Amino acid sequence: MTHARFPETFLWGGATAANQIEGAYAEGGKGLSIQDVTPQGIMCDRVAGPTADNLKLEAIDFYHRYAEDIALFAEMGFTVFRFSIAWSRIFPLGDEDVPNEEGLAFYDRVLDELERYGIEPLVTLSHYETPLHLAEKYDGWVNRDLIGFYERYARTCFERYGHRVKHWLTFNEINSVLHIPFGSGGINTPKSELSEQDLYQAIHHELVASARVTRAAHEIDPSIKVGCMVIAMPLYPLTPNPDDVVAVMDADHANLMFSDVHVRGEYPGYAKRFFRDKGISLDITAQDLEDLRHTVDFVSFSYYMSLCQSADPEALAGAGNIMGGVRNPTLRESEWGWQIDPQGLRVVLNQFWDRWQKPLFIVENGLGAKDRLIEVDGELTVEDDYRIDYLNDHLLQVAEALEDGVDVLGYTMWGPIDLVSASTAQMSKRYGFIYVDRADDGSGTLTRHRKKSFGWYADVIRSRGGSL
Ligand code: BG6
Repeated sequence: MTHARFPETFLWGGATAANQIEGAYAEGGKGLSIQDVTPQGIMCDRVAGPTADNLKLEAIDFYHRYAEDIALFAEMGFTVFRFSIAWSRIFPLGDEDVPNEEGLAFYDRVLDELERYGIEPLVTLSHYETPLHLAEKYDGWVNRDLIGFYERYARTCFERYGHRVKHWLTFNEINSVLHIPFGSGGINTPKSELSEQDLYQAIHHELVASARVTRAAHEIDPSIKVGCMVIAMPLYPLTPNPDDVVAVMDADHANLMFSDVHVRGEYPGYAKRFFRDKGISLDITAQDLEDLRHTVDFVSFSYYMSLCQSADPEALAGAGNIMGGVRNPTLRESEWGWQIDPQGLRVVLNQFWDRWQKPLFIVENGLGAKDRLIEVDGELTVEDDYRIDYLNDHLLQVAEALEDGVDVLGYTMWGPIDLVSASTAQMSKRYGFIYVDRADDGSGTLTRHRKKSFGWYADVIRSRGGSL
């Protein structure tokens, strides 16, 4: 075996979200979430109620098959598993006083199973899963009341699970609310009608809520570590023109403001200037300022791709990506047009470490691809060398960042088992080491099959990166 490239304490595993794996959308007393009314994915408009074409309603049935799935993760040697608690399983409407015991009991069972294999849980409190009632009655995070509802939910989770869940994330990809206000912030007002004033007020409420529950977690159990979670997307100037460099700086500020507040405990000067320039006047109370001082223990992020930025409106036109950048002419891309840039991961790790000096956790990274199930030696499998290459190249860059002195806690690839895509709500956009027999039309047996990458990842974990 070649030498290990990762420290012994490094956590290895995979990441998921309740709405993309659990199914059972109306079982166990669960209320509706915003996912139950976005059958085409979180980038698309909502519909009135659950519809038969929404693959998330059944997803991959993790709700009933979690034991089998966790056993497969254990077989690969996972030491950490990231999943989210569906808020509407615990508080079906979101604004009740008393939690739903059946929902709480489900996650007890999941945690029992993880414990059996010594797999550490990493739990996201809110992963694009705002209870629908909160979106419809309160317009989601635009309303200050959401802070209290979220704190009640988070405290319930910390009190119930805090003795065995030591790593928590407050909001998945919190900076995505800039682009998908309904999916990310439960904001029911259509994006085209949402004012910047209301959007940033909603962001402020989320930032205060995140800080408040960080304080609550530390009060309930000082050994709990709470992290923020952001989309990390390194931006490169499209040309050496200083205008493009400034365009990168501005776009970086828009994104990094979220983690800057989480880590520094206050709004940075560039954010205050942005509010001034835009005529945005936020309702920020003295208590809010005090709450924000409860900063995170670590910073976690998803990393899939990098983008270019330009000051030239013509170059920007047609840049249809979620984060609004320009394609990089030097990079390859996935079948869904996501540009592949392993070195960008090292860049981001260094940028974040230099900026905050906080431990970092890579909690999403992976390749969505079309897989073909074939038979090899009597077993159904997928020869997914493209996925192995993608992950291998990215992990080598993590090893480089470790050499650079960056403190990285762990790596949870997205999604270790095929699940329903967030942006397109497809099954055919597959990420897993484990194939799930389900098609975009909803047909399939839901049987699980190990792909070639399953054995590859097991080797990586066993050798602590020596096999990369
Ligand atoms: C992240 C989300 O944006 O990317 C996940 O946190 C999502 O929920 C993942 O699944 C991959 O995106 P997609 O659209 O390919 O599922």
